[in-house]
Amino acid sequence: MKLTIGSKSNILEVIPLYYDKKKNILFDKKNSEDIIRKLKEENFEAQDKNINYVNIDKKKYLVIGIKKDFSNEDLRKAYYVVLCELKKRKIKEAKVNFPNNKEETFYSCVEGLELGDYKFDKYVSKKEKENLTLYLNSDKKYSKILKEILTISKNVKFCRNIVNENSYVMTPKKLESLSREFAKKNKLNIKVLDEKAIVKEKLNLLYAVGCGSINPPRLIIVEYNGDPKSKDKIALVGKGITFDTGGVNLKPTGYIEEMRMDMGGAACMLSSFMSAVEMKIKKNIVLVIAAAENVVSSKSFKSGDIYVSYNGTSVEIMNTDAEGRLVLGDAISYVQKKYKPNKIIDAATLTGACLVALGPSLIAMLGNDEKMKKDIFESGENTFERVWELPIYDEHRDLIKGEISDIKNLGGRDGGTITAAAFLEKFVEDKVKWVHLDIAGAMMSKKPEFYVPKGGTGRGVRLIYDYLKR
Ligand code: BES
Ligand code: ZN
Ligand code: ZN
Repeated sequence: MKLTIGSKSNILEVIPLYYDKKKNILFDKKNSEDIIRKLKEENFEAQDKNINYVNIDKKKYLVIGIKKDFSNEDLRKAYYVVLCELKKRKIKEAKVNFPNNKEETFYSCVEGLELGDYKFDKYVSKKEKENLTLYLNSDKKYSKILKEILTISKNVKFCRNIVNENSYVMTPKKLESLSREFAKKNKLNIKVLDEKAIVKEKLNLLYAVGCGSINPPRLIIVEYNGDPKSKDKIALVGKGITFDTGGVNLKPTGYIEEMRMDMGGAACMLSSFMSAVEMKIKKNIVLVIAAAENVVSSKSFKSGDIYVSYNGTSVEIMNTDAEGRLVLGDAISYVQKKYKPNKIIDAATLTGACLVALGPSLIAMLGNDEKMKKDIFESGENTFERVWELPIYDEHRDLIKGEISDIKNLGGRDGGTITAAAFLEKFVEDKVKWVHLDIAGAMMSKKPEFYVPKGGTGRGVRLIYDYLKR
């Protein structure tokens, strides 16, 4: 699909409007008087997300119904519905109108089109060909915004692609090479700790998780100084488990099949970082990817063993399937020591309990800074990548206290999302502002929801970008 701002005559025209038999609301006054008359004649209604075709003087209109009091999310969905219709009818070009001239309206409608234009078809031998050009009938001044939408959408789709990719392709080394490519192209500093360096630096938790695999672990760090005058620095830390078998506490059938997506946190943070860099956001950002494959072999780490983490905290491994918090704990400690960020956001497909608590699409948010949490919550509402806060209280902290070690990597079944965050909190230094995002449900979808496809969703990328931007 190609989007350009401009107009063309004698092609199908998309008209948004709301019309029911009692009350007309005309979004586009120029055209819609005639269209409404036609709809009336034909006994059609243009209500939420329904489509009608209307012909007037040899000209064809596709009328998309838009709710009277539409939200930005209604627009994303409605314009996604339009895109599907155009594709279904194999239409090659169309002129697209918008409900009003507001910037946020344009943003949301075009997001719906662009985010919805996705299919993971790399492994499908007969790919559907399409050749669609949309002329966006809007102010030329929105070309800058269009560029931003295209950049962010590209990165959302990159995120979906790498989450959907096979685990034997998307290894820790592959995450390294993707990061290196991006760093090189944008002249950014990159540091990668390979398995030897991980041992040497005593990142023992990361090593424990990754040491069982023929695909060895990596700690990947990329720096972007978008605001050299400022002392502010935010670390984006992502869980990059390229496959999670559960380790010797092996996951059962029915739970293991989706686990190539367990690098979703890394994918999300890499894609958000790429968006911030490409849009030249004025922030200092350090990207950290803790990458490992959690598999079963004679070299794997085992339950019951105690490891001493990078920051000196000893951890009893109660369950090798609670591996995400281990790699993140070391990654968080390391970035604080070496890069001194004053803020950290981590994203991770950390707990199945997150799905139990919040359902399949919400992101759980926990952390120690009210302002950051408030801002991230607002970004969630803006982007419809919604977050919901869970607390961490002392009774949760108690659940991970160790008996023969400082802490345990398991707090029991109850409040699993919270005890996992309480574990991460142990690795956050006192004055550092920190927010943890559990995207276990949000990153992978069992069924398509309008412009969010089945499989890797890319959720979190627009959220983090929106937060960084404001
Ligand atoms: N990667 C999983 C969490 C997960 C589950 C992500 C379902 C997406 C969908 C994580 O490593 C894990 O296995 N967590 C365990 C923790 C338990 C052993 C404390 C879980 O949630 O069951
Ligand atoms: Zn696990
Ligand atoms: Zn995992």
